[in-house]
Amino acid sequence: MQPVSKLPHIGTTIFTIMSKMATDEGAINLSQGFPGFGADPVLLELVANYTKNGFNQYSPMSGIPGLRAVLAEKTKITQGYLPNSEDEVTIVSGATEAIFCAVTAIIEEGDEVIVLEPAYDSYEPAITLNKGIPIYVPLNPFDFSVDWDKVKDAIGPKTKAIMTNSPHNPSGYVWTKEDVDTLAELVQETRIYIISDEVYEHITFDNRPHFSLGAHQDLRDRTFVCGSFGKTFHVTGWKIGYCIAPKPLTLEFRRIHQYVTFSTVTPIQFALAEYLEVPDRYLSIPAFYERKRNVFAEGLKQTELEFVPSQGSFFQVARYGHLSKISDRLLAERMTKELKVACIPVSVFYSTKKDDHLIRFCFAKEESELQEALERLKNLQNLWL
Ligand SMILES: Cc1ncc(COP(=O)(O)O)c(C=O)c1O
Repeated sequence: MQPVSKLPHIGTTIFTIMSKMATDEGAINLSQGFPGFGADPVLLELVANYTKNGFNQYSPMSGIPGLRAVLAEKTKITQGYLPNSEDEVTIVSGATEAIFCAVTAIIEEGDEVIVLEPAYDSYEPAITLNKGIPIYVPLNPFDFSVDWDKVKDAIGPKTKAIMTNSPHNPSGYVWTKEDVDTLAELVQETRIYIISDEVYEHITFDNRPHFSLGAHQDLRDRTFVCGSFGKTFHVTGWKIGYCIAPKPLTLEFRRIHQYVTFSTVTPIQFALAEYLEVPDRYLSIPAFYERKRNVFAEGLKQTELEFVPSQGSFFQVARYGHLSKISDRLLAERMTKELKVACIPVSVFYSTKKDDHLIRFCFAKEESELQEALERLKNLQNLWL
Protein backbone atom coordinates (compact mmCIF):
# COMPACT_ATOMS: atom_id res chain seq x y z
CA MET A 1 0.00 0.00 0.00
CA GLN A 2 1.37 3.43 -0.92
CA PRO A 3 -0.63 6.39 0.39
CA VAL A 4 -0.83 9.47 -1.79
CA SER A 5 1.43 11.88 0.05
CA LYS A 6 -0.06 15.14 1.29
CA LEU A 7 3.46 16.53 1.67
CA PRO A 8 5.38 14.92 -1.19
CA HIS A 9 8.02 17.66 -1.18
CA ILE A 10 8.94 17.11 2.47
CA GLY A 11 11.87 14.88 3.36
CA THR A 12 13.82 14.41 6.60
CA THR A 13 14.51 17.81 8.12
CA ILE A 14 18.03 19.19 7.92
CA PHE A 15 18.05 19.36 11.73
CA THR A 16 17.80 15.58 11.96
CA ILE A 17 20.31 15.11 9.15
CA MET A 18 22.93 17.43 10.66
CA SER A 19 22.48 16.11 14.21
CA LYS A 20 22.94 12.54 12.97
CA MET A 21 25.99 13.56 10.96
CA ALA A 22 27.41 15.30 14.05
CA THR A 23 26.95 12.11 16.11
CA ASP A 24 28.36 9.86 13.38
CA GLU A 25 31.39 12.12 12.90
CA GLY A 26 31.97 12.81 16.61
CA ALA A 27 31.55 16.53 15.86
CA ILE A 28 30.51 19.29 18.28
CA ASN A 29 26.86 19.77 17.46
CA LEU A 30 26.08 23.47 17.00
CA SER A 31 23.42 22.60 14.41
CA GLN A 32 20.05 21.71 15.93
CA GLY A 33 18.51 24.24 18.33
CA PHE A 34 18.66 22.52 21.69
CA PRO A 35 20.66 23.31 24.82
CA GLY A 36 23.71 21.23 25.59
CA PHE A 37 23.28 21.63 29.35
CA GLY A 38 20.76 20.48 31.91
CA ALA A 39 17.72 22.21 33.37
CA ASP A 40 17.58 23.74 36.84
CA PRO A 41 17.71 20.82 39.35
CA VAL A 42 14.82 22.47 41.21
CA LEU A 43 12.59 21.99 38.17
CA LEU A 44 13.74 18.38 37.72
CA GLU A 45 13.02 17.66 41.37
CA LEU A 46 9.54 19.12 41.05
CA VAL A 47 8.79 16.86 38.07
CA ALA A 48 10.12 13.83 39.96
CA ASN A 49 7.93 14.64 42.97
CA TYR A 50 4.79 15.15 40.95
CA THR A 51 5.29 11.87 39.08
CA LYS A 52 5.91 10.01 42.37
CA ASN A 53 2.93 11.59 44.05
CA GLY A 54 0.35 10.44 41.59
CA PHE A 55 -0.07 13.38 39.18
CA ASN A 56 0.02 11.09 36.19
CA GLN A 57 -3.43 11.05 34.60
CA TYR A 58 -4.96 13.22 31.88
CA SER A 59 -4.96 16.90 32.64
CA PRO A 60 -7.88 19.15 31.66
CA MET A 61 -7.90 19.66 27.89
CA SER A 62 -6.80 23.31 28.11
CA GLY A 63 -4.10 22.65 30.72
CA ILE A 64 -4.17 22.67 34.52
CA PRO A 65 -5.67 25.89 35.92
CA GLY A 66 -2.58 26.56 38.07
CA LEU A 67 -0.22 26.65 35.10
CA ARG A 68 -2.59 28.75 33.01
CA ALA A 69 -2.93 31.23 35.87
CA VAL A 70 0.80 31.59 36.52
CA LEU A 71 1.46 31.90 32.78
CA ALA A 72 -1.11 34.69 32.57
CA GLU A 73 0.68 36.32 35.52
CA LYS A 74 4.05 35.96 33.75
CA THR A 75 2.51 37.68 30.72
CA LYS A 76 1.40 40.53 32.98
CA ILE A 77 4.90 40.84 34.47
CA THR A 78 6.80 40.68 31.18
CA GLN A 79 4.31 42.18 28.71
CA GLY A 80 2.02 44.33 30.84
CA TYR A 81 -1.28 42.66 30.02
CA LEU A 82 -3.16 39.93 31.82
CA PRO A 83 -4.83 37.36 29.57
CA ASN A 84 -7.84 35.62 31.05
CA SER A 85 -6.37 32.29 32.13
CA GLU A 86 -9.73 30.54 31.85
CA ASP A 87 -10.49 31.14 28.20
CA GLU A 88 -7.44 32.81 26.62
CA VAL A 89 -4.58 30.51 27.66
CA THR A 90 -4.09 26.92 26.47
CA ILE A 91 -1.25 24.55 27.39
CA VAL A 92 -0.12 22.38 24.47
CA SER A 93 2.59 19.89 23.51
CA GLY A 94 5.17 22.40 22.32
CA ALA A 95 5.00 25.52 20.18
CA THR A 96 4.93 23.27 17.11
CA GLU A 97 1.51 22.04 18.20
CA ALA A 98 0.40 25.59 18.97
CA ILE A 99 1.38 26.73 15.48
CA PHE A 100 -0.33 23.75 13.85
CA CYS A 101 -3.55 24.21 15.82
CA ALA A 102 -3.64 27.96 15.20
CA VAL A 103 -3.16 27.51 11.45
CA THR A 104 -5.73 24.69 11.34
CA ALA A 105 -8.22 26.77 13.31
CA ILE A 106 -8.33 29.56 10.75
CA ILE A 107 -7.02 28.46 7.36
CA GLU A 108 -9.45 27.22 4.71
CA GLU A 109 -8.77 26.05 1.17
CA GLY A 110 -7.22 28.80 -0.96
CA ASP A 111 -6.46 31.16 1.92
CA GLU A 112 -3.14 32.94 1.60
CA VAL A 113 -0.74 33.07 4.52
CA ILE A 114 2.19 35.47 4.47
CA VAL A 115 5.40 33.86 5.67
CA LEU A 116 8.50 35.98 6.21
CA GLU A 117 11.57 34.05 5.15
CA PRO A 118 14.01 32.63 6.06
CA ALA A 119 11.45 30.83 8.20
CA TYR A 120 11.22 27.98 10.68
CA ASP A 121 10.34 24.80 8.87
CA SER A 122 7.03 23.87 10.53
CA TYR A 123 5.03 26.80 9.13
CA GLU A 124 4.77 25.68 5.52
CA PRO A 125 3.55 22.09 6.13
CA ALA A 126 0.91 23.37 8.57
CA ILE A 127 -0.37 25.78 5.91
CA THR A 128 -0.20 23.24 3.07
CA LEU A 129 -1.97 20.48 5.04
CA ASN A 130 -4.83 22.92 5.53
CA LYS A 131 -4.88 23.68 1.79
CA GLY A 132 -3.68 27.21 2.40
CA ILE A 133 -1.16 28.94 0.15
CA PRO A 134 2.06 30.27 1.66
CA ILE A 135 3.06 33.64 0.22
CA TYR A 136 6.75 34.20 0.90
CA VAL A 137 8.13 37.63 1.68
CA PRO A 138 11.91 37.86 2.05
CA LEU A 139 13.40 39.61 5.06
CA ASN A 140 16.06 42.24 4.37
CA PRO A 141 19.27 40.56 3.24
CA PHE A 142 21.76 41.95 5.74
CA ASP A 143 20.12 42.25 9.12
CA PHE A 144 16.96 40.18 8.52
CA SER A 145 14.72 43.08 9.51
CA VAL A 146 11.26 43.19 7.91
CA ASP A 147 10.78 44.94 4.57
CA TRP A 148 7.38 46.42 5.35
CA ASP A 149 6.79 47.64 1.80
CA LYS A 150 7.14 44.07 0.60
CA VAL A 151 4.71 42.84 3.28
CA LYS A 152 2.25 45.54 2.22
CA ASP A 153 2.55 44.50 -1.43
CA ALA A 154 1.95 40.86 -0.51
CA ILE A 155 -1.33 41.58 1.27
CA GLY A 156 -4.35 40.95 -0.95
CA PRO A 157 -8.01 39.97 -0.76
CA LYS A 158 -7.13 36.33 -0.05
CA THR A 159 -4.67 37.04 2.79
CA LYS A 160 -6.00 35.27 5.86
CA ALA A 161 -3.00 35.37 8.16
CA ILE A 162 0.57 36.51 8.65
CA MET A 163 3.09 34.29 10.44
CA THR A 164 5.62 36.22 12.49
CA ASN A 165 8.63 35.14 14.53
CA SER A 166 10.57 37.34 16.94
CA PRO A 167 13.22 36.77 18.23
CA HIS A 168 13.86 35.21 14.88
CA ASN A 169 15.20 31.80 14.00
CA PRO A 170 17.67 31.59 12.24
CA SER A 171 18.89 35.21 12.30
CA GLY A 172 18.31 36.34 15.90
CA TYR A 173 16.67 39.58 14.69
CA VAL A 174 14.39 41.03 17.38
CA TRP A 175 11.41 43.10 16.31
CA THR A 176 11.41 46.73 17.41
CA LYS A 177 8.42 48.66 18.71
CA GLU A 178 8.25 50.28 15.24
CA ASP A 179 8.01 46.85 13.61
CA VAL A 180 5.05 45.95 15.80
CA ASP A 181 3.34 49.32 15.25
CA THR A 182 3.84 49.06 11.49
CA LEU A 183 2.27 45.60 11.41
CA ALA A 184 -0.66 46.88 13.48
CA GLU A 185 -1.18 49.74 11.02
CA LEU A 186 -0.98 47.44 8.00
CA VAL A 187 -3.65 45.04 9.22
CA GLN A 188 -5.88 47.58 10.97
CA GLU A 189 -8.60 47.72 8.31
CA THR A 190 -8.39 44.02 7.43
CA ARG A 191 -9.56 40.70 8.86
CA ILE A 192 -6.05 39.23 8.82
CA TYR A 193 -5.02 36.99 11.72
CA ILE A 194 -1.51 36.94 13.16
CA ILE A 195 0.22 33.75 14.29
CA SER A 196 3.13 35.00 16.36
CA ASP A 197 5.88 32.50 17.09
CA GLU A 198 7.56 33.82 20.24
CA VAL A 199 9.43 30.74 21.43
CA TYR A 200 12.59 32.79 22.13
CA GLU A 201 10.65 35.46 24.07
CA HIS A 202 13.07 35.23 27.01
CA ILE A 203 16.26 35.26 24.96
CA THR A 204 17.06 38.85 23.93
CA PHE A 205 20.36 40.68 24.40
CA ASP A 206 21.81 44.11 25.16
CA ASN A 207 18.66 45.15 27.09
CA ARG A 208 16.53 44.73 23.99
CA PRO A 209 12.90 44.18 25.04
CA HIS A 210 10.77 41.48 23.50
CA PHE A 211 7.49 42.98 22.26
CA SER A 212 4.84 40.29 22.27
CA LEU A 213 2.29 40.92 19.53
CA GLY A 214 -0.40 39.93 22.01
CA ALA A 215 0.54 42.94 24.11
CA HIS A 216 -0.29 45.42 21.34
CA GLN A 217 -3.71 46.94 21.88
CA ASP A 218 -4.56 46.90 18.15
CA LEU A 219 -3.20 43.42 17.45
CA ARG A 220 -4.45 41.46 20.46
CA ASP A 221 -7.89 40.64 19.04
CA ARG A 222 -6.41 38.90 16.01
CA THR A 223 -3.26 37.28 17.40
CA PHE A 224 -2.32 33.77 18.49
CA VAL A 225 0.87 33.97 20.59
CA CYS A 226 2.75 30.65 20.50
CA GLY A 227 5.33 29.96 23.22
CA SER A 228 7.58 27.14 24.41
CA PHE A 229 8.54 26.18 27.96
CA GLY A 230 10.99 23.75 26.38
CA LYS A 231 13.01 26.63 24.89
CA THR A 232 12.77 28.86 27.94
CA PHE A 233 13.81 26.30 30.56
CA HIS A 234 16.35 24.20 28.57
CA VAL A 235 14.03 21.19 28.29
CA THR A 236 13.20 21.00 24.59
CA GLY A 237 12.52 17.26 24.88
CA TRP A 238 9.56 17.85 27.15
CA LYS A 239 7.63 19.38 24.25
CA ILE A 240 5.43 21.64 26.30
CA GLY A 241 4.28 25.07 25.22
CA TYR A 242 1.29 27.31 25.08
CA CYS A 243 -1.01 29.50 23.03
CA ILE A 244 -2.38 32.81 24.27
CA ALA A 245 -5.20 34.23 22.16
CA PRO A 246 -8.46 36.13 22.74
CA LYS A 247 -11.53 34.10 23.64
CA PRO A 248 -13.09 33.60 20.16
CA LEU A 249 -9.72 32.52 18.72
CA THR A 250 -8.98 30.28 21.70
CA LEU A 251 -12.37 28.61 21.30
CA GLU A 252 -11.50 27.52 17.75
CA PHE A 253 -7.90 26.74 18.74
CA ARG A 254 -9.09 24.36 21.47
CA ARG A 255 -11.48 22.60 19.07
CA ILE A 256 -8.40 21.51 17.13
CA HIS A 257 -6.08 20.94 20.09
CA GLN A 258 -8.73 18.69 21.64
CA TYR A 259 -8.31 16.22 18.78
CA VAL A 260 -4.62 16.65 18.06
CA THR A 261 -3.35 15.75 21.53
CA PHE A 262 -6.34 16.49 23.83
CA SER A 263 -4.03 17.45 26.71
CA THR A 264 -0.36 17.55 27.53
CA VAL A 265 1.89 15.88 30.07
CA THR A 266 0.37 16.32 33.54
CA PRO A 267 3.25 16.09 36.08
CA ILE A 268 5.31 18.57 34.05
CA GLN A 269 2.42 21.03 34.04
CA PHE A 270 2.25 20.87 37.85
CA ALA A 271 6.01 21.25 38.12
CA LEU A 272 6.06 24.27 35.79
CA ALA A 273 3.13 25.88 37.62
CA GLU A 274 5.15 25.80 40.84
CA TYR A 275 8.43 26.73 39.17
CA LEU A 276 6.99 29.81 37.43
CA GLU A 277 5.90 31.29 40.75
CA VAL A 278 9.40 32.74 41.08
CA PRO A 279 9.71 35.36 38.29
CA ASP A 280 13.50 35.47 38.54
CA ARG A 281 13.55 31.99 37.01
CA TYR A 282 12.54 33.47 33.65
CA LEU A 283 13.75 37.03 34.17
CA SER A 284 17.33 35.75 34.56
CA ILE A 285 17.34 33.91 31.22
CA PRO A 286 18.47 36.84 29.00
CA ALA A 287 21.64 37.42 31.07
CA PHE A 288 22.35 33.68 31.11
CA TYR A 289 22.27 33.48 27.31
CA GLU A 290 23.92 36.86 26.75
CA ARG A 291 27.08 35.50 28.38
CA LYS A 292 27.07 32.62 25.91
CA ARG A 293 26.35 34.95 22.98
CA ASN A 294 29.34 37.09 24.05
CA VAL A 295 31.69 34.13 24.39
CA PHE A 296 30.66 32.87 20.97
CA ALA A 297 30.84 36.29 19.28
CA GLU A 298 34.27 37.03 20.80
CA GLY A 299 35.62 33.71 19.57
CA LEU A 300 34.03 34.05 16.16
CA LYS A 301 35.91 37.33 15.67
CA GLN A 302 39.11 35.27 15.69
CA THR A 303 37.90 33.31 12.66
CA GLU A 304 37.54 34.41 9.06
CA LEU A 305 33.74 34.39 9.22
CA GLU A 306 31.76 37.65 8.98
CA PHE A 307 28.87 38.24 11.35
CA VAL A 308 26.88 40.76 13.37
CA PRO A 309 26.33 39.61 16.97
CA SER A 310 22.93 38.02 17.44
CA GLN A 311 20.19 40.22 18.98
CA GLY A 312 18.20 37.33 20.43
CA SER A 313 17.39 33.56 20.27
CA PHE A 314 20.29 31.16 20.77
CA PHE A 315 21.48 31.34 17.19
CA GLN A 316 24.31 33.15 15.44
CA VAL A 317 24.36 33.49 11.67
CA ALA A 318 27.74 33.91 9.95
CA ARG A 319 28.72 34.67 6.36
CA TYR A 320 31.50 32.96 4.42
CA GLY A 321 30.75 34.22 0.88
CA HIS A 322 33.92 36.39 0.84
CA LEU A 323 36.01 33.23 1.41
CA SER A 324 34.42 30.65 -0.84
CA LYS A 325 31.48 30.11 -3.14
CA ILE A 326 30.84 26.48 -2.21
CA SER A 327 27.21 25.83 -1.35
CA ASP A 328 26.17 26.29 2.27
CA ARG A 329 25.02 22.66 2.41
CA LEU A 330 28.39 21.41 1.25
CA LEU A 331 30.15 23.73 3.67
CA ALA A 332 28.03 22.47 6.59
CA GLU A 333 28.80 18.89 5.61
CA ARG A 334 32.54 19.49 5.24
CA MET A 335 32.68 21.51 8.45
CA THR A 336 31.07 18.60 10.30
CA LYS A 337 33.29 15.95 8.75
CA GLU A 338 36.59 17.80 8.59
CA LEU A 339 36.54 20.42 11.36
CA LYS A 340 34.20 18.38 13.57
CA VAL A 341 31.82 21.29 14.13
CA ALA A 342 28.23 20.92 12.90
CA CYS A 343 26.13 23.91 11.80
CA ILE A 344 22.98 24.47 9.71
CA PRO A 345 23.03 25.87 6.15
CA VAL A 346 20.68 28.88 6.10
CA SER A 347 19.38 28.05 2.59
CA VAL A 348 17.13 25.38 4.15
CA PHE A 349 15.05 28.15 5.74
CA TYR A 350 14.05 29.51 2.30
CA SER A 351 11.25 28.07 0.16
CA THR A 352 13.53 28.49 -2.88
CA LYS A 353 16.60 27.15 -1.00
CA LYS A 354 18.29 30.46 -1.87
CA ASP A 355 21.97 30.19 -0.95
CA ASP A 356 23.51 33.43 0.37
CA HIS A 357 26.54 31.57 1.76
CA LEU A 358 25.32 31.77 5.32
CA ILE A 359 25.47 29.24 8.13
CA ARG A 360 23.76 29.14 11.51
CA PHE A 361 25.33 28.09 14.79
CA CYS A 362 23.45 27.28 18.01
CA PHE A 363 25.36 28.67 20.99
CA ALA A 364 23.14 27.11 23.69
CA LYS A 365 26.07 24.98 24.79
CA GLU A 366 28.49 24.78 27.73
CA GLU A 367 31.20 27.44 27.45
CA SER A 368 33.94 24.80 27.29
CA GLU A 369 32.20 23.23 24.30
CA LEU A 370 31.80 26.61 22.60
CA GLN A 371 35.51 27.37 23.19
CA GLU A 372 36.53 24.05 21.67
CA ALA A 373 34.27 24.62 18.64
CA LEU A 374 35.70 28.12 18.18
CA GLU A 375 39.23 26.76 18.33
CA ARG A 376 38.36 24.34 15.54
CA LEU A 377 36.73 27.09 13.46
CA LYS A 378 40.07 28.90 13.33
CA ASN A 379 41.09 26.23 10.82
CA LEU A 380 38.34 27.20 8.44
CA GLN A 381 40.81 27.86 5.62
CA ASN A 382 41.43 24.09 5.40
CA LEU A 383 37.93 23.74 3.99
CA TRP A 384 38.61 25.92 0.96
CA LEU A 385 41.56 23.77 -0.18
C1 LIG B 1 11.14 29.44 15.70
C2 LIG B 1 10.72 28.18 16.35
N1 LIG B 1 9.42 27.93 16.55
C3 LIG B 1 8.99 26.80 17.14
C4 LIG B 1 9.88 25.83 17.56
C5 LIG B 1 9.36 24.58 18.20
O1 LIG B 1 9.15 24.73 19.57
P1 LIG B 1 8.68 23.47 20.44
O2 LIG B 1 9.87 22.58 20.65
O3 LIG B 1 8.16 24.03 21.72
O4 LIG B 1 7.62 22.76 19.65
C6 LIG B 1 11.25 26.02 17.34
C7 LIG B 1 12.22 24.98 17.72
O5 LIG B 1 13.33 24.93 17.23
C8 LIG B 1 11.68 27.24 16.75
O6 LIG B 1 12.99 27.49 16.55
